Amino acid sequence: MSSSLKTPGFASGWFVACFSDQLAPGEARPVRFFGQDLVLFRSESGEPVMLDAHCPHMGAHLGHGGKVRGDRVVCPFHAWEFGPTGDCVEIPYADKIPKKAKVACWPLVEKNGFVFVWYDRAKDPPSWQIPDMPEFGAPGWTAWSHGELEVKTHPREIVENVVDVGHFMPVHGTDVSTIENVFDAHKATQINSGTAYPIGGGHDHYSLEATYHGPAWQLTDWKGFLQARLVNCHTPIDEDRLLLRFGVLIQETDDVAKTELIAQKYVENMREGFFQDIAIWENLSFRERPILCAGDGPLMKLRQWYQEFYQPDSERVAALEARRA
Ligand code: FES
Ligand SMILES: [Fe+2]
Repeated sequence: MSSSLKTPGFASGWFVACFSDQLAPGEARPVRFFGQDLVLFRSESGEPVMLDAHCPHMGAHLGHGGKVRGDRVVCPFHAWEFGPTGDCVEIPYADKIPKKAKVACWPLVEKNGFVFVWYDRAKDPPSWQIPDMPEFGAPGWTAWSHGELEVKTHPREIVENVVDVGHFMPVHGTDVSTIENVFDAHKATQINSGTAYPIGGGHDHYSLEATYHGPAWQLTDWKGFLQARLVNCHTPIDEDRLLLRFGVLIQETDDVAKTELIAQKYVENMREGFFQDIAIWENLSFRERPILCAGDGPLMKLRQWYQEFYQPDSERVAALEARRA
């Protein structure tokens, strides 16, 4: 592990490029993640693709005005066409395609209602997978209700919430009765129970198990007034900003309108909860060596776990596996 947490760049892992319902077939759009300009598009048959943004010809941004044709994105400047691997496959006014006419292609996986992108500091392939959620698309469960916020903070601040038991009452007004943290290879789980006081009033006695699958996608199994699955995830935009996304699936009740209203309320509560955290995150001065006391939760263990995602794949896997033992 690096001796400093101020490693430049980003952790390696699966990150959310978008919710599936945010990208329609035939749509192309510009995105900026990991300090890079990218184009995200969905082929007419429905496959998501993410490529480096700038055309190798004369540098136009493929996401600003680029059109999808079949499984290709067409550059808005001179209409060169790029396939899902990033290779130029058609130039409308030339028979021969230059060898170097290609852009980098990013590994994507679509599951659970998300398009995930694999980011790797060493450009290694994925060393684990996001698990399937049996509730997604299953009868008796709603579709995702979701929201997003751009936040000026380091991703580590968000992840540290899972061990930071001391902040739940002062920041969120949540009364935590039990909490346990388990670190297992690329997963970090918080098992927690208590009483939440939703913003709209009332209270909810809950128990939850919330697992980070890698550094950026956390899935919560929430048992309270209703059964719910919550997702909290983030994708770095650059070294100073990230896109925070959150969503909820809930078990349907007989009253469809009421179920939808409850799902919306969950999302509003998540948004409000994040606003409470953001007020802290955006104004704090990072303490690499905080002065901790009994009851603060295993913060340094969490930081050590998170820091492993900055290691090259082989070292990371060995370190994460060793932690499992
Ligand atoms: S800049 Fe893209 S085709 Fe010319
Ligand atoms: Fe929080």
